[in-house]
Amino acid sequence: MSLSTPMRILVTGADGQLGRALRSESVRHAEHEYLFADRGMLPIDEPDRVRALFSEWRPTICINAAAYTAVDRAETEVEQAYRINAAAVGWLASACRDSGARLMHVSSDYVFRGDAHRPYLEDDPTDPQSVYGASKRQGEESALREAPDCLIFRTSWVYYEEGTNFVRTMIRLMRERASVGVVADQWGCPTYARDLADCLLRIIDGGRLHPGIYHFCNQGAITWHAFATAIRDILESACEVRAITTAEYPTPVRRPAYSVLDTTRIRETFGIVPPQWRTSLEECMHRIQAASA
Ligand SMILES: NC(=O)c1ccc[n+]([C@@H]2O[C@H](COP(=O)([O-])OP(=O)(O)OC[C@H]3O[C@@H](n4cnc5c(N)ncnc54)[C@H](OP(=O)(O)O)[C@@H]3O)[C@@H](O)[C@H]2O)c1
Repeated sequence: MSLSTPMRILVTGADGQLGRALRSESVRHAEHEYLFADRGMLPIDEPDRVRALFSEWRPTICINAAAYTAVDRAETEVEQAYRINAAAVGWLASACRDSGARLMHVSSDYVFRGDAHRPYLEDDPTDPQSVYGASKRQGEESALREAPDCLIFRTSWVYYEEGTNFVRTMIRLMRERASVGVVADQWGCPTYARDLADCLLRIIDGGRLHPGIYHFCNQGAITWHAFATAIRDILESACEVRAITTAEYPTPVRRPAYSVLDTTRIRETFGIVPPQWRTSLEECMHRIQAASA
């Protein structure tokens, strides 16, 4: 695979945040051919459909942006979460292996326990604390077992200008309310889906798809409260952002207190330097505002 080799890139989950970001960013990587497959075109948890599409379209790279991402609901929809996040990843990986395609799979910070005191390294022990996290970890294992030359990208706190995410929810709440309470005792790194999409496409362009697990998130560890405060400031809203504790905002799945990912490996392997979280947040909010103007 050389720098100039055009690829046939299959993107699953094309209607999700990362899928949409990949579609949008792909125009800057127009030397490749793309197939953006939403759930209707390719339900990844139907192995026959996966096989059929691989033999019909013959991708050289498959970016798996499809996932079961409803973290709380996964606690009761256990079978579905595992089928999509674990079994289906194995089916995609074996289709890649058998057809000579490379798999670029996306995983999550939730594979870790989430109580560390320093950023998580790729080789740190995993210890998922939820069905979602455990299903994502099993997906990593399935990918590595079926297609050992795959690349796995763990990311965290993903947002985009479309879809359901923290940034869009905060913008709505800040327009509706005088005050919002946001947890100030959970640390992590936001990830603008457009930055992750750009990272994946730049790695493909680089032509050296080193197998392995990589962490990608925007730079700078913050709390949800700090993130919400920045959103409020960029919006120039008068909404008060109150700091609350995790105990004051109970959810079926307890969120990690510390979920910061170390991105040294992706920098050293591919020369990818993730943008600072604040710069990316400003870009995303600028796009949201431009779209609604
Ligand atoms: N969002 C986050 O904060 C976050 C954090 C860490 C890691 N990640 C990981 O990052 C990746 C991208 O996440 P995202 O935020 O883009 O998620 P998303 O917006 O929820 O998109 C996921 C997409 O996958 C589709 N999908 C679900 N089941 C499918 C199936 N059986 N076959 C085909 N498509 C299916 C969904 O379609 P429907 O809407 O029709 O179900 C949706 O379009 C995922 O691997 C996720 O686990 C996300």
